[in-house]
Amino acid sequence: MKESNLNPFISKIENSVSERTIIKLTISNRNCKENKLLKVFVKLIEIKHGVKLSFVYRYATNDITKNFGVQKGINIIVNLLNDFSNAILFTCNEDTELIISKKGFELKQSAPKFQETPSLKHDHQKTGLIDIENNVYLRELGVTTSEWKIKKDMHDKFRQINKFIEIFDSLINEANLPPKIYVADMGSGKGYLTFAVYDFLINKTKYTPFVTGIEYRKELVDSCNVIAQKANFSNLTFKSGSIGTTQTDNIDVLIALHACDTATDDAIFKGIIAKSGLIICAPCCHKQIRKQFNVNNEFTSFLKHGILEERQAELITDAIRALLMEAHGYKTKVFEFISNEHTAKNIMIVGKKTDGIINRDEILEKIKAIKDFYGIKEHYLEKLLQNR
Ligand SMILES: C[S@@+](CC[C@H](N)C(=O)[O-])C[C@H]1O[C@@H](n2cnc3c(N)ncnc32)[C@H](O)[C@@H]1O
Repeated sequence: MKESNLNPFISKIENSVSERTIIKLTISNRNCKENKLLKVFVKLIEIKHGVKLSFVYRYATNDITKNFGVQKGINIIVNLLNDFSNAILFTCNEDTELIISKKGFELKQSAPKFQETPSLKHDHQKTGLIDIENNVYLRELGVTTSEWKIKKDMHDKFRQINKFIEIFDSLINEANLPPKIYVADMGSGKGYLTFAVYDFLINKTKYTPFVTGIEYRKELVDSCNVIAQKANFSNLTFKSGSIGTTQTDNIDVLIALHACDTATDDAIFKGIIAKSGLIICAPCCHKQIRKQFNVNNEFTSFLKHGILEERQAELITDAIRALLMEAHGYKTKVFEFISNEHTAKNIMIVGKKTDGIINRDEILEKIKAIKDFYGIKEHYLEKLLQNR
């Protein structure tokens, strides 16, 4: 059935939402290969703030979830359909495929693939990568109750853990890692992600993992070691110490999540000198560069605003980190790893070691140009690499 506009399809979505028969809507086949967004999945959920349309935006390495009120969500769907040429609305009664081409809009109806009436409850507990039932460390870390239910105030934390493991899964699949895999988690804190990494590697992959968490705070190290024993995680250990001085000869995967300020640089440095196959970091506060900003050019006019100066300092700090990793043979990518409704600290820098030829001087020149522009005298990671 050829249509001259989108209205019939949008009406079907609206009806399925109001009648609660919608199971999901998938939007795919991007029109432009440069569009980094690959697919979008939409479903109806009920959360504390009412009924929402929940959007999962799928990118090559991560998913970002955002919830919108129904009307706003419908408007977003209409806009998305400018950039994609296929959408399928799955409902309990029928499925409707929308095919968009230069000739117009075509709707194809078919019998429903899923017939079960959807529950609107937000399914916090569903995850394929981290099991909840009988998972000792989740209980000991206070994420679950003794009945293996996610605690009320721990849903965000659990979602963050899962999101990280999803990304970790795709990153290790892309990297060339040995069967015995040595992982160092720098600034492991309470160990949520360190435990999850070990759990995932030992239970869901072919690797034999040896995971070490490095953490300043001895009380956290001690409690994590006790939990590792209770969980029977024999190759997971936590060591008390500073990232900068810790001995690290053998690292295949270096992780540093929210290690404060220059601790992220210390961690990346350790990864680079150990020739770690994969470096995964999510920087935290960025103070070192901001203090040095001395801008006497056209950027002065906006850097007078504190928040813009702060954001700019974050960008420059992380941009130079990524360039330094590239200068040392890493292919890098920088992306948002979790929706910023959960945390503002959501930028991830990933470096994958490659054997490709690099023109280090050219990259160092680029770094120098950035530093000169902002009047930066010293980037901490650059200094570590120069002084080694
Ligand atoms: C914000 S917490 C993050 C914990 C964990 N990585 C996560 O993302 O859940 C940062 C941790 O890094 C530790 N830390 C910061 N700088 C460090 C350093 N130079 N050496 C060792 N630990 C450090 C802190 O004590 C803190 O526990």
